[in-house]
Amino acid sequence: MIKILTIVGARPQFIKAAAISREISKNFDIQEVIVHTGQHFDKNMSDVFFTEMQIPKPKYNLNINSLSHGAMTGRMLEQIEQVIITERPDFVLVFGDTNSTIAGALAAKKLHVKVIHIEAGLRSFNIKMPEEVNRILTDRISDILFCPTNKAIENLDNEGFANFNIKIVKSGDVMQDTAIFYTDLAKKPNFDVPSNFVLATIHRAENTDDIERLKNIFSALSTISEDIPVLLPLHPRTKKIIEKNNIDTKNIQIVDPVGYLEIVYLLKNSKLVLTDSGGMQKEAFFFSSPCITLRDETEWVELVQNGYNKIVGADTEKIILAYKLLIDSSLDFSVDLYGNGKASEVIIKNILEM
Ligand code: UD1
Ligand code: UDP
Repeated sequence: MIKILTIVGARPQFIKAAAISREISKNFDIQEVIVHTGQHFDKNMSDVFFTEMQIPKPKYNLNINSLSHGAMTGRMLEQIEQVIITERPDFVLVFGDTNSTIAGALAAKKLHVKVIHIEAGLRSFNIKMPEEVNRILTDRISDILFCPTNKAIENLDNEGFANFNIKIVKSGDVMQDTAIFYTDLAKKPNFDVPSNFVLATIHRAENTDDIERLKNIFSALSTISEDIPVLLPLHPRTKKIIEKNNIDTKNIQIVDPVGYLEIVYLLKNSKLVLTDSGGMQKEAFFFSSPCITLRDETEWVELVQNGYNKIVGADTEKIILAYKLLIDSSLDFSVDLYGNGKASEVIIKNILEM
């Protein structure tokens, strides 16, 4: 029997954990203990994922949130260390690139517990992004790296990972596992959903912490909404900044963040996705919508190379132009870029062989 301590804290990690926990539950030789750092804490940013996606209840909730990067990561490091000492797991499993990810990996490595990193090898090559720092450091101190794409493997090769004693596996993307599993459970939200609409999300620090960029994005969304309804489930971080700076959001249908089953419903019914989210770029593809990415670069380059995604930054004109180009496009979404829903199976098999 092996024991895995899974660290989650932010919304995308709950979605990834749903896929892995389901796979683990099929295997009697693995015991999973979930630790929620508390990074995301609103009901619709956290609890809803656990209940709707039937993720096992975390044994620990550290309740650490709303702090600066150093304070948040430091407190998580301290408390996760205590949990590891108490639980004595064989592996600590972390996902993606948040502060919860690096805190979990670092606490485990210093205690000589093996670290599993899922969604490894991704790079934006923008070292100002907190996520880029978190993912580079996490990759380097992990024992096994599960890469979602060929590009992720190539990035690790370029950084000389062949010289380190780290197992690297191309697994595909666990987010496609969840997209496939939950598609039939999609739930219509209890607000008016237009029959034809563009779905938008905005939450990245590079946009929310730069008021000019945020204003430009909202200006583009307002223009687009003269043509087609724009529906924006708004991350609490962005909400606070919009309110504080009186940013004009006219014509845009703003709603609270929705749970996973509802976002799947919206993704399935939207004509196009406008986002700065990592997860949403892929989910647009999984649910057959073209995507416009409100960033200056992406980790998911295969979507851009294949014409599913356009990178436009926060330039109002570029956003509107990309919208005009993509809104009536007829793309073939049947290409296999992310493993077609088998990632969790590959991951668990490889962990058992460690
Ligand atoms: C974090 C991740 C980011 C990821 C995102 C997913 C880091 C550095 N960033 O960003 O990579 O894309 O999660 O959504 O780890 N807040 C609430 N309620 C909540 C959650 C957050 O009000 O449930 C507020 C916090 O109080 C804070 C702000 O939102 O003021 C930002 O939260 P934080 O967890 O620091 O970063 P995210 O922007 O959510
Ligand atoms: N999501 C959700 N409700 C929303 C917006 C997003 O359930 O209102 C889901 C969606 O599946 C997305 C995931 O949360 O891929 C990841 O969250 P986010 O976009 O905040 O983070 P990122 O992927 O950029 O790290």
